[in-house]
Amino acid sequence: MNRKLYFGTNLKMYKNIADTVSFLKELEELTKDISRDDMELFVIPSYTSLPAAAEKTDRRYVKLGAQNMCWEEQGQFTGEISPLMLEELGLDMVMIGHSERRHVFGETDAEENKKVKCSLEHGFKTLLCVGETGEEKDFGISAEVLRTQLIVGFHGISADMAEKIYVAYEPVWSIGVNGTPASAEYAEKMHQVIKECLQEIFGEKAALIPVLYGGSVNPQNADSMILQPSVDGLYVGRSAWHADAFNKLIRQAMTTYRNAER
Ligand code: PGA
Repeated sequence: MNRKLYFGTNLKMYKNIADTVSFLKELEELTKDISRDDMELFVIPSYTSLPAAAEKTDRRYVKLGAQNMCWEEQGQFTGEISPLMLEELGLDMVMIGHSERRHVFGETDAEENKKVKCSLEHGFKTLLCVGETGEEKDFGISAEVLRTQLIVGFHGISADMAEKIYVAYEPVWSIGVNGTPASAEYAEKMHQVIKECLQEIFGEKAALIPVLYGGSVNPQNADSMILQPSVDGLYVGRSAWHADAFNKLIRQAMTTYRNAER
């Protein structure tokens, strides 16, 4: 296997503390034998589950992240979580700009940029999510939207930071119970747009940035997605929330990828 694959799940506003911990322990056990040189696995639980998750999870096997973060260390930001608070938990990564943050809570590209900068300054691996809405896709401006989200989102970030950056392409129309998964061909096209744009922003260091596909990934489409040359991993929601199902999906995708390489 010449390329490391990335698998992650965002638990959104699901699972209490006990359920999150047992999910993490089970996932860790089930996937332990898979070499972490071949794949990286991360889980992004709710804030309230993070302290227990951080204490109980063996981070050599499962990396842990937060779903969002404020761009200030402290201040009059009621309801927000500071990078210092996340540092106290010793987290591996922070996700910024998930489509639900952008479209349900109205976050802007400029805000995502402040968060990305702050997260990187505090040493977190930083996962920026990008994706066009169904309307933007219908107008034929998906590439323009993705480029805008990336150019603004990474404004002022030096190429030295590239090794700490991840990108997830999650078309808004493909996410959640009412979403339709993108076709593998469409995802590949958009991943190419993203990779070209990252190259413009970060130069050759852009090659260090994994780009994951997310949005209704399931056991039926995971294989065709992972076979796309510009898809470095899968960012899975609903299909990952039972540890045994996620383990199966990961193994199946890795086997497909390996067999295709031969
Ligand atoms: P889904 O969620 O797989 O349930 O569509 C994806 C996501 O929001 O990351």
